[in-house]
Amino acid sequence: MHKLIIHGGKKLNGTINISGAKNSAVALIPGAILCDESITLTNVPNISDVDSLEEMLLFLNAKIDRRKNGEILISSENIENKRIDENLVKKLRASYYFMGALLGKYKHVEMCFPGGCTIGARPIDIHLKGFKKLGATIKEDGDNFIIDAKELKGTKIYLDFASVGATINLMYAAVKAEGETIIENAAKEPEIVNVATYLNNMGAKITGAGTKTIKIKGVKYLHSCFHEVIPDRIETGTYEIIAAAIGEKITIKNIIPEHVEALNEKLTEMGVDITIKEDKVVIKESKNLNSVSIKTEVYPGFPTDLQQVLASLMVIAEGTSTIQETIYENRFLNLYELMKMGAKIKISGDTATITGPTKLKGTEVNATDLRAGAGLVIAALIANGKTVINNADYILRGYENIVEKLKSIGADIELV
Ligand code: EPU
Repeated sequence: MHKLIIHGGKKLNGTINISGAKNSAVALIPGAILCDESITLTNVPNISDVDSLEEMLLFLNAKIDRRKNGEILISSENIENKRIDENLVKKLRASYYFMGALLGKYKHVEMCFPGGCTIGARPIDIHLKGFKKLGATIKEDGDNFIIDAKELKGTKIYLDFASVGATINLMYAAVKAEGETIIENAAKEPEIVNVATYLNNMGAKITGAGTKTIKIKGVKYLHSCFHEVIPDRIETGTYEIIAAAIGEKITIKNIIPEHVEALNEKLTEMGVDITIKEDKVVIKESKNLNSVSIKTEVYPGFPTDLQQVLASLMVIAEGTSTIQETIYENRFLNLYELMKMGAKIKISGDTATITGPTKLKGTEVNATDLRAGAGLVIAALIANGKTVINNADYILRGYENIVEKLKSIGADIELV
């Protein structure tokens, strides 16, 4: 496990280029299995979650050419549909996309329960219920699933919750099914639109992605395509929060501002000096930050993936801020680490109350998951003195070149 060592208190200046979205890339890569030819993805972030998916595809005998410029070529024409090694599957959550993709292509998949950050129970019952509605039978033996279908038939599927993973997995399972599938109460996140466009680029017939009703007309064959991963809205938000916390003037480029509207609204409410342009934002030093209240919601609401990151900014804002986390049951572990640095925080059920402003002091803390780690990086950049963040590998799972990017704007940060 790596550690990050940060000497805080240095004002940051300069430009950050945002990478391709982790949560799009980790869906698009397993989706390559559905293609009957080969695909090229561009703007793929160089993060360890992508390394793990590459390992899984290689395990299935796919051919992969991953280039330094962020392009990845995948040919799944001759893959072997076998049970993926459990150690690989457990490395991340997005392994579950192999379920939908292999089921869609081969009508058979054998896989164990996926891994991922421990931020809640994270069941996959909505995915499995949808596979069943499409005609699959599922044998569950402890942690292992065998999913089979003589044929997959289009049908209407209502999701009990607008789950990102289930929406994408059901698009994968339905894209080659017989007839039309309608997913009601579908997730509307930008990553869903990115995946639907990808499949349509291969010749799929999907409409409605980005709304609550997605319609998929099954096709027999999916041809090669060239597809770009959208900019990472959570990485964008993370650097916006860093800029608000300790920046003098920071420009964040290669973004889609509409994807971070909920955060930008809250930053403006906090008094952050933010100028939004077509594909970038400029954030200048703000004199005083005000407290704010947020409640996490599905897109376009405030993203759960940014609440842990924003918590570190709330610590230095004047007054009492609150966070209500409605998506996951266990996404406040970062707050205990912030308290070690001096933050004044109370946690009660799904709500945390943060009272500021507090001057944070550098100390040794633990990244308990990816976004908790990102929040601690921000706290360490603000704090007086040296902070050591243990388990930094969590952070490397989702932030491309975070050390280099932060150094380029003046941070004193080192990975050891
Ligand atoms: N849920 C169920 N049953 C299911 C599926 C989901 O109860 O079958 C529950 C989950 O337990 C959770 C909620 O529904 O409480 C939301 O889950 P969702 O399926 O939408 O999330 P996910 O697909 O597991 C993706 C991202 C997460 C992000 C969420 C919400 C990936 C690989 N992960 O997870 O990203 O928080 O959507 O936007 O795309 C992160 O990047 O740090 C991260 C955790």
